Amino acid sequence: DPAPVLTIDGPSGSGKGTISRLVTGRLGWHYLDSGALYRAVGVAAGWKDIDLGDPAALVRCAFDTRVDFREAEDGLRVMVNGSDATHELRMETAGAAASAIAAIGEVREVLKERQRAFRRPPGLVADGRDMGTVIFPDAAYKVFLTASADERAQRRYKQLKDKGVSVTFAGLLREILARDARDANRAVAPLRPAADAVTIDTTGMAIDDVVDRVLAVMAPAQ
Ligand code: C5P
Repeated sequence: DPAPVLTIDGPSGSGKGTISRLVTGRLGWHYLDSGALYRAVGVAAGWKDIDLGDPAALVRCAFDTRVDFREAEDGLRVMVNGSDATHELRMETAGAAASAIAAIGEVREVLKERQRAFRRPPGLVADGRDMGTVIFPDAAYKVFLTASADERAQRRYKQLKDKGVSVTFAGLLREILARDARDANRAVAPLRPAADAVTIDTTGMAIDDVVDRVLAVMAPAQ
């Protein structure tokens, strides 16, 4: 039997990253940050001066980009082609590049098997946009997290401010809305809840309460 999977999909700033990591810790399962793979390709393309309007070069870049996740004292570190790119990956420029690249079907194909390889016992928490719809359609547990655009921009703003990145709230809100529109309207693997996903609106909810709600989704089978 394949290892069990919990998919957590949703738009940027919905709390997916934070909630996924906490739930992963509670379950003692493996964790896949699929957005980091798309961001890594975006960052690697930038390093190589690849034009975001050149799909063939981006597909080659996706194929060539090595991504390794390392557990460190201050959290998960992401190595891209052997260099620590953790900080660069969190910038909104990396998110925007990722979103442009993620609209290319062939790039998604290249990353598909790499994502499925994260499924190992005792289980996997998979965080992204199409985890429940495309990558792990047979997952036993599926959650879709949302929150109002304003609250999502607030969270990202705080997150980036805490990391010392200089951003404006208005600029961030505009970027987030543009990225969501592109993710939701693309032809391949658009952002949407799987038919069998449980949607949780996290607007105004405390983190611990969201974690409890996600674990409750899994409860009937345990
Ligand atoms: O989740 P994160 O903000 O890191 O994702 C960055 C971008 O990568 C998203 O805006 C989306 O375009 C793309 N992505 C995707 N499918 C996933 C994860 C991320 O298309 N499973």
